[in-house]
Amino acid sequence: MTKIRAAITGVHAWVPDYILTNEELAKMVDTSDEWIMTRTGIKTRHILKGEGMGTSDMGAEAVKGLLEKTNTHPDEVDLIICATVTPDMQFPATANIIADKTGIKNAFHFDINAACSGQIYALTTAAMYIESGKYKKVIMVGADKMSSIVDYTDRTTCVIFGDAGSAIMIEPTNEDVGFIDSIHQADGFGRVHLHQKAGGSVKPASHATIDAREHYIYQEGQAVFKFAVSKMADVSVEMMKKHNIEPEDLAWLVPHQANMRIIEATARRMGIDKEQVMINIQRYGNTTSATIPLCLWEWEDQLKKGDNIILAAFGGGFTWGSIYLKWAYDGKNHL
Ligand code: ACO
Repeated sequence: MTKIRAAITGVHAWVPDYILTNEELAKMVDTSDEWIMTRTGIKTRHILKGEGMGTSDMGAEAVKGLLEKTNTHPDEVDLIICATVTPDMQFPATANIIADKTGIKNAFHFDINAACSGQIYALTTAAMYIESGKYKKVIMVGADKMSSIVDYTDRTTCVIFGDAGSAIMIEPTNEDVGFIDSIHQADGFGRVHLHQKAGGSVKPASHATIDAREHYIYQEGQAVFKFAVSKMADVSVEMMKKHNIEPEDLAWLVPHQANMRIIEATARRMGIDKEQVMINIQRYGNTTSATIPLCLWEWEDQLKKGDNIILAAFGGGFTWGSIYLKWAYDGKNHL
């Protein structure tokens, strides 16, 4: 029996209108455009404003756009998997809320929390549901309202993150395209360096936790940086070796957009040119679960059927990994 293959058949994203510039941040904390550009490569990030607006609103906008451009009726969708670290609420899953907001009634839905690697964990999970033969249309959503957990008095973290929602359609294909392989890894010890101290079962929300600003991101930047550089590069090089991919065979590296220096180091280790790397961190910052789909969405017009693509991510946990796939359609011609 021939193996059912899973392929990406459409991608869409949505970012809020409000743009937070380095100049505006320099009025809020002791920083400068020069420092932020040199250390991170970020110029602007989009921020979701408005009472009652959350991650599901951005995810829902992305899903609506995806359904429209892929000509999909909501009733056809089998499953939604949402990667996020900023769910609308502890429960129910943000995927449940997105389904409700987009009129998707015949599907089941759940969230994946693997920080910035959630997007590739969710894509692999979606591909596996398709490869099982039981499901025909799975939507992976990557969405985060990072501004809801960023401390805008902490200059070491507030310059990095932005908000965005994204959605990717995964379907079966008989052609020689789609998901080929994935390598996913994690090390729970990494939690020491990157976490949110309060609001979970160990330290539920209280006046004391709020006073101590413990509901914001806690990050030891340098420790995270070191791991991110080595792990994202290791896992991408491993994927190239495993499949005998020479640098010139690779159409695109689509890296998690955490820091320009991490992206450049990964490309160097893989022996590829910067022209082979999708980079839009300058405009969006680190949108956690949405960075890779945001790139695919922006580059979609340039993608060609059969393009060899490696996706790579690193995030809190620590979690990291890479996916190797062959792009399934030319430009905006959805399958
Ligand atoms: N403006 C000016 N100075 C700053 C700023 C700022 N915004 N932030 C920090 N500094 C200062 C520090 O206080 C320090 O000053 P000191 O030497 O007087 O103590 C100096 O700059 C150097 O600080 P470092 O932390 O060493 O700066 P670094 O070059 O490491 O950059 C950064 C910090 C951008 C956070 C970097 O470490 C990084 O990108 N880390 C990885 C982030 C990441 O990949 N996270 C994973 C994904 S996130 C997720 O999973 C949710």
